[in-house]
Amino acid sequence: MNAETSTIYRDELAHIVFVRKGRNIALKNTPANWELIGKGRSAYVFKIIGEQRAIKVFYPPFEHLAMEEARNYEKVAGISFFPRLYEAGEGYLVMDFISGKTFFDCLAEGVAITKDHVAQVDKALELARRAGLNPSDIHLHNLLLTETGTVRLIDIARFSQKKQCTQWQDLKRGYERHYGQRYFPKRVPKWLMMIVAYFYQLRKRLNGKQ
Ligand SMILES: Nc1ncnc2c1ncn2[C@@H]1O[C@H](COP(=O)(O)OP(=O)(O)O)[C@@H](O)[C@H]1O
Ligand SMILES: [Mg+2]
Repeated sequence: MNAETSTIYRDELAHIVFVRKGRNIALKNTPANWELIGKGRSAYVFKIIGEQRAIKVFYPPFEHLAMEEARNYEKVAGISFFPRLYEAGEGYLVMDFISGKTFFDCLAEGVAITKDHVAQVDKALELARRAGLNPSDIHLHNLLLTETGTVRLIDIARFSQKKQCTQWQDLKRGYERHYGQRYFPKRVPKWLMMIVAYFYQLRKRLNGKQ
């Protein structure tokens, strides 16, 4: 493993407190020189101020995913579509901070997602497969577009699962059919994307049970 075993972020990590609020896990405090930049279904992510590094801190019960994701990042090390991993420890990862927007924010703000961007995702997934991974959980929040038009993939903890995931194929089909059509809005409201994602997940779960 390239990642170091001790961390210079030990004090900050010790100060992080998560509190359960119903079904949500809230963050109680952000360390002084960290800036909160994102939250997903398993972690809060911060930018370390003054550095081009991001730290992903997994909240309970997902701490174990840190090591899984670290192992996957090691497999794609050197592939430019993925951030470089600097450090992995109990419940956290330190990686490149990617300056850009998620595809979700691009759609919400009317930033064009081009065929080339889609092709870049395909290429990244192909390279990940060649590195022995099984890409899954590819959705709009896990795809980033940088200011120079390059695509980066993050959140690859689930790239080592056995199940086949069709999420990217489904997303791409939706893009090919609807994006750029006259009726497709310039900016897609976030609530609408959230509803579509909710029903997509619900349908997948119901189909899985059949
Ligand atoms: N390396 C990074 N650079 C910039 N933003 C990031 C980075 N990693 C995560 N983010 C932001 O934080 C959000 C949550 O991170 P993610 O790794 O997807 O967490 P989760 O596993 O909980 O879904 C992302 O959708 C993205 O907006
Ligand atoms: Mg995510």
